[in-house]
Order: sequence, then structure tokens, then C-alpha cells
Amino acid sequence: MVTLAENITTLRIMQEIKLSEDIYYLGCNDRKTNLFENIWPIPYGVAYNSYLIVDEKIALVDTIERGFIDDYFDKIDEIIGDRKIDYLIINHMEPDHSGALKAIMQKYPDIILVGNKKTFDFIHSFYFDPTNILQVHDNHKLELGKHTINFQMIPMVHWPETMVSFEEKTGILFSGDAFGSYGTLDGGIFDDEVNLEFYEEESMRYFTNIVGKYCPHTQRAIKKLKSLDIKMIAATHGPIWRTDLDWILSRYNKWSSYDLETGVVILYGSMYGNTQKMAEVIARQIAERGIKNIRIYDASKMHPSYIISDLFKYKGFIVGSPAYNNALFPNVQTVLSTIEHMAPKNHYLGIFGNYLWSGGGVKNLKTFAEKIKWELVYDPIEEKGALRTDKHEELIKLANAMADKLLEE
Ligand code: FEO
Repeated sequence: MVTLAENITTLRIMQEIKLSEDIYYLGCNDRKTNLFENIWPIPYGVAYNSYLIVDEKIALVDTIERGFIDDYFDKIDEIIGDRKIDYLIINHMEPDHSGALKAIMQKYPDIILVGNKKTFDFIHSFYFDPTNILQVHDNHKLELGKHTINFQMIPMVHWPETMVSFEEKTGILFSGDAFGSYGTLDGGIFDDEVNLEFYEEESMRYFTNIVGKYCPHTQRAIKKLKSLDIKMIAATHGPIWRTDLDWILSRYNKWSSYDLETGVVILYGSMYGNTQKMAEVIARQIAERGIKNIRIYDASKMHPSYIISDLFKYKGFIVGSPAYNNALFPNVQTVLSTIEHMAPKNHYLGIFGNYLWSGGGVKNLKTFAEKIKWELVYDPIEEKGALRTDKHEELIKLANAMADKLLEE
């Protein structure tokens, strides 16, 4: 007679994935969620990565989104059986990593939560006041047996409490959100097991959407972590980097230092086509000047996630809006609000628009220009209705002014 427990045991056919002899990958893939943080589209999903260090003491490094808890516990049970987890290291408290916290504390009531002062402030706000805690600080070390964890604080990459955990024996950096990416891990878990072209756009979009507001903090973190002898980077999202660490490190360094390429993003809103025609005229002239990186986006169609990502790539930004009820076109307003929020630096700006009644589009674009403080390359251009010769010539001048600025660099 086969018992229920034996049946369940035979059903659990999980493949163990190891980063080293004693360190296991416990991540899961989310292909159901449409919007990360309920804001950012993730058409290719996202992975929530968690890790288990099995030594004289057992430590879990970050957790997963709570919807995946059953498989998560199955994986842990298969690896450690009846042993208890001694420590839960919380590098980052956002719920995509702390979502399983309450369930873990129910399963392992004696577990010690490891975090810094701000970590415990956030646990208090989100969940409860834990009693078994170990509060750590910069360079604090936690001995597990053969393995030693060295904690380093990297605030604002991506929350104030964010820290990383460096395992000294293996050189594995558990980096939290830093060096992460959108995109599920479809079979391949490590960088040498995947086609990195897939992660080119998804890692950049992840950085610009999630961490991009905190570029100076990211720069500080990159400099700080250089003192560690890092052999592997295990982030909370995206592939684990064990072969070409420079692939992700160099990109995070480039993006967070606003190292922009020659190119232009042209954003417009258009109800009847007049503002769109103005955008096309500008783009054509910029192309005539030999600039190949030109992306035109309709604000009513393209999500700000993708536009923000391109603004961390290209130096030029030209925005056009019709007046809408004497104000800015709402969908243009949405994108501009996102840009103001993320505040990327070092751009050249051009503005144009259209109206029929008494204006409001360009007037508000000027307000945007004052707030964002990017260099305005030409006077704002506003047409009334269909594009005519004099304004056509002005648009050509705007395009040339932008091209001049970009090409003189
Ligand atoms: Fe992946 Fe900021 O949480």
C-alpha cells in the first residue's frame, strides 16, 4: 500500500540547480503578471530568484513572490528534508522578494531574519515585528560553517534598505535587484546557457524602469563592490552571471552614468494626424543629416517603459503635442510625467505642437522644458491645423539644430 506521503514524494521530480557545491538556485518564473509593480509591461515575464546555502547552518537568501510558495517549499524540502533553515537573509524588502516571509516564518518558527535597521523598519510596516533578528551593517560577517557572508549596504538600488550579501568562499555576490533583468529564465539559468541578445533590451528596460531614478546610487554601489573578489553575480531577477560578468557590469555602469549615444527619440500625440506629420518632417531631416538612431513614438500606443529605456540610450529628445481642451494631450502628459519622475540627464530637447482653438499643448511643453532643464536646441514651434510652408521650414530648422548638437559631440 503506497501512502499519500510516498505518492507526493514520487511526484516531486525537481531538478536541482546549483551555483556551487552547497548553494542552490530556488527561483521561479512569472509568465502571468502583465505589469511589474502594476506599472511596467513584462511581455516576456520575470524571474524571482532566491538561493539556499546549505552548510552547518542553513541560510536562505531572499524569497519569492508569494503566489509561487508551494513549488518553492517543495524545492526546499527536496534539498534539506527535515533540516531547519537557520537564517533568512533579506537583501531587499520589496514584496517580489519578501512575499513569502510570513509563510516561511510559519514553516520555520525559529528562523532568524537577517537585515539592516531599515529592513526591520519595513518588515514592521508591511508585516509584523519579528523577535528572532540579526541586525547587520556594512562589512558585518555571518559565519555559516564553511561559508561566510559579508554584508554591504547599497541603499537606493533599489530601496533605502537594499544591501548585498557576498559569500567569501565561492565569490558569489547575491546582489538583490542590482544587475537584474526582466525576462523569465526559460531553461537556461546562467549567462553561458542563454542567448544574451534576449536580455539586451529586457535588462536595460528593467534597469531604466526600476533603478534608473537612482543612477548616482548605482554608480556608488558599482565602485563600492569593486573591492570584492566577485566570481559570480546572483541577482533577484534575470540570469546568474558566472562567465561574462562584465556583460552586465559594463552595461549597468554605462546606463547609470548617462553615457548616451547619438540618436533621437521623437514623441508625439496626435488625434487627426497634424502633429504626427510634423514629427515625420523632423525625423526625415534628421535622417538626411546622417543620424540613423531615430525612434518615433506615438504616446497613445507606446508604453512609457519603452520610451524611458530609449532615453537612457539616446541623447536627443523632441516632443510634440496638440492642444487638448486647452491643455497638453493627456497621453503625452503621462509620458512626460514619467520622464520627469525618472529624470534622466544630459539630453538635448526640441518641442513643437498644434492647436485649433486657443492652444495649450506647446504652452505646457515649455513648462516641461523649464522643469526638466535639458538644453533647448531651438525655439518652440506651434502650427494651427494643417502644416504650412513657413512652419515646415521651422521644423527643418529644429531638426538641423538637433542634428548639429548631436553631431558636434
Ligand atoms: Fe525586485 Fe525592487 O524588487
